[in-house]
Amino acid sequence: MPVSLSDLPESPESVGAALREAAYLADDSTALISFLAQRLGKPVLVEGPAGVGKTELAKALSRSTGRELVRLQCYEGLDEAKALYEWNYRKQLLQIQASAAIHGEDEDTAPAMGEIFTEDFLLERPLMRAIANPDPVVLLIDEIDKTDQEFEAMLLELLSDFQITIPEMGRIEARTHPIVILTSNNSRELTEALKRRCLYLWLDYPSAEREIEIIRLHAPEIDQALAGRLVEIVDMVRELDLKKPPSIAESIDWARTLILMGADDIDGKVFRESLSIIIKHRTDLDLVAERIGPRLGRSRTVSGNGAANGSGGGETDDGQATGDPD
Ligand SMILES: Nc1ncnc2c1ncn2[C@@H]1O[C@H](COP(=O)(O)OP(=O)(O)OP(=O)(O)O)[C@@H](O)[C@H]1O
Ligand SMILES: [Mg+2]
Repeated sequence: MPVSLSDLPESPESVGAALREAAYLADDSTALISFLAQRLGKPVLVEGPAGVGKTELAKALSRSTGRELVRLQCYEGLDEAKALYEWNYRKQLLQIQASAAIHGEDEDTAPAMGEIFTEDFLLERPLMRAIANPDPVVLLIDEIDKTDQEFEAMLLELLSDFQITIPEMGRIEARTHPIVILTSNNSRELTEALKRRCLYLWLDYPSAEREIEIIRLHAPEIDQALAGRLVEIVDMVRELDLKKPPSIAESIDWARTLILMGADDIDGKVFRESLSIIIKHRTDLDLVAERIGPRLGRSRTVSGNGAANGSGGGETDDGQATGDPD
């Protein structure tokens, strides 16, 4: 049964607003693709660096539409049995034994194959659950790039026709139309066949204004000026050639850390003490400490937030950060 028209969103703006209500701040293209996914009934492939909100988008769509989230976490070696369905061999064996006990060992009276290959003997895995669910769901296929191409090929039928074929039972069609979100960190190129079936959304690090807003959404206690300073520094750090640049998740953690530290500015000392919250590789730590640390000075008065904190003794700027670190 398709989703009724009244359940479908009216415009990209209304999707953006609903996502915001669900604590997800979407930019225009994210709102547009999320809208199209529902109106065109197509899966969305979301790619982008780590920690930019790919997984969270699916969760937020689930919250904003009131649909259950069915999640398939992909990993190397993931196969159909874990993703789609598995026969419940234990239950099948018990059925055979029970039948043998009643009818004797005679092979002719053993249960027919058709009797033990029915829905009752099926263990539903996430893809099957999304298809068979009587209510429409959001299906998140997370980190699809971790699987191999054979697994992708298996997904094609599901993604284009919203159906699954079980050899012993035949075709199972979706009862409702799920919103499907696939995410990838781009660790390998996905097949053209998969991409053709999906709408594409590239999520990148957000603009400074949006990142400040996201940080304040997750850490409301943080002062606007301090959040601005934090984003300015994170931006400088991202420009360096790092193994793992800080993501939105790290910005949020850093904001929460600064609040707990009682810092109302990020001077050299605060930066050094909290650096490991945003940088998680030994070599990156050295590079960032060397390139960014000296630019922050000893203290800096935060506009609109009174005097600087005690750690810098109330001194004013001293070689503070500007523009491009290079
Ligand atoms: N637009 C946004 N609005 C609100 N919160 C966001 C937004 N983008 C990211 N976040 C927050 O950032 C964090 C990281 O997001 P998420 O886990 O979705 O990243 P990801 O892109 O899936 O990363 P990975 O590739 O590592 O899985 C989450 O805590 C999420 O709440
Ligand atoms: Mg993710």
